Amino acid sequence: MDLSRNENIVLRELSRDPEKFISEDSLNPPEIDRRGVASAVSYLIKKGLVDLQLKEEERYDLGEEGKTYLSSGLPEQNAIRLIGAAGTTIEQLKNSLGSQEFGIALAQIARSGVKPIGGFISIDYELLKKLQDEYEKRRLALMEIEQSGRCSDLAALENLLRRKNVVVKKTRSIREIRIKPEALAMLQNQGDRIEVLTQEMLSSGSWKGKEFRPYELNPPVQISGFNFLHPLSFMIERIRDIFISMGFTEMHGNYVETALWNMDALFIPQNHPARQLQDTFYLEEKPALDDRDRLFQGIFRKVHENGIRGYSGWGSSWEPSESERLLLRTHTTVNTIRYFAEHKSGQHAIFSVDRVFRHENMDWKHLPELHQIEGAVMHPEVSLGTLKGIIREFYSKLGIENIEFIPSYYPYTEPSMDIVAEINSREVELGGSGIFRPEVLRPLGIRQKVMAWGMGLERFAMLYYNLDDIREIYNNDLEWLKTYGIKLSALKKISKN
Ligand code: PHE
Repeated sequence: MDLSRNENIVLRELSRDPEKFISEDSLNPPEIDRRGVASAVSYLIKKGLVDLQLKEEERYDLGEEGKTYLSSGLPEQNAIRLIGAAGTTIEQLKNSLGSQEFGIALAQIARSGVKPIGGFISIDYELLKKLQDEYEKRRLALMEIEQSGRCSDLAALENLLRRKNVVVKKTRSIREIRIKPEALAMLQNQGDRIEVLTQEMLSSGSWKGKEFRPYELNPPVQISGFNFLHPLSFMIERIRDIFISMGFTEMHGNYVETALWNMDALFIPQNHPARQLQDTFYLEEKPALDDRDRLFQGIFRKVHENGIRGYSGWGSSWEPSESERLLLRTHTTVNTIRYFAEHKSGQHAIFSVDRVFRHENMDWKHLPELHQIEGAVMHPEVSLGTLKGIIREFYSKLGIENIEFIPSYYPYTEPSMDIVAEINSREVELGGSGIFRPEVLRPLGIRQKVMAWGMGLERFAMLYYNLDDIREIYNNDLEWLKTYGIKLSALKKISKN
């Protein structure tokens, strides 16, 4: 029988006291961590190399009340702090503690014979000292329980266990193992076989003439049946194929962007709600802007404050420092605009399927990190009609025919349209689109017309696979992924038709 390195180490530990059952917890070989020990012990039991006996052990855990007491003090402790050496009225004590805590505190203090008299409560100085001590011990006991699951102060423990939801007792079984004689013999026969070859052994040559632990190089492999991509990767590949088949080129960008490009270049006013913290993850560092960005700061400032010929701008003042903030890009339209700032003329069709970040709470339809599909075209034929046509073609290749356009608003496009579709008999907003405004294009020196659209990939995947919760897409439960795989093969069929 062959032993792994960890099994060997655990057996050696056990062999120091071959007569005794040793608890798993007290096996602490320096070479392996707890998990390594636990798994080695399991294997040794399975291989029949050790005897096993289970021991029940009592452990403690904080209940709901116990957790509150630990963070804000035990009621009786808070009470005697308020009563102090001078005493206080019941009224006052009740007001400061709240009626529930007051009730508990009074009951606890009453155990030491202290009771209110005529609406007033006071504690004799000696007793007060004693109670402070005793109650502090209870708090320390709570702390110990939280940290170790054990309690060494039996008096405090008894008090805490008697109370409701303060401390709960659990029993846990611990494995105790003892090395079997045949395993002991195995160890002895092994001699100084090499388990792990170290650099030291190699350079000193001490490995020479020694026996090595044999390795099984052709172990039987279990076929998992996971011969497909993750659902989201599959969709991304599919969307890439579609864009490429339509003649689009993939563009790339960075996760970290300046507000200058993510917002200002796109004519998003500086007081726009999307700029505020609830929508954008800002970084603490400041970028070192290069000369070109400094130049654009001047240009965008004029555009935002006074507009361009024929267009009036936002009128409010534009802060250079706001544009210098670093952020995690909130949309891939920043890639689009950066691309066109470099390609001011000619004809271009570009796309990306990439990550964006939004400072949002996670719920069934929101993720703070998601993928956006973005497409953009620079062409003399750009119009609302060609934009609709190209979007329809894109979605029809994904198997979605009935899309509609409804008027919408984005600071950087005019006109703007939202794309709406009916999927699984639910009306869903798929994304935004529009024709870039002159306030965006002209400052970059672009005379051509540009149209673009963008949509969230996860939202789309959720609807496509009829998921009720967007978080399911990132579920890493293998069984679940298998069923997802089946749905995907259905999609493959759909998209081929
Ligand atoms: N950037 C927009 C969003 O994040 C989508 C969009 C892209 C709108 C291109 C118009 C043009 O929702």
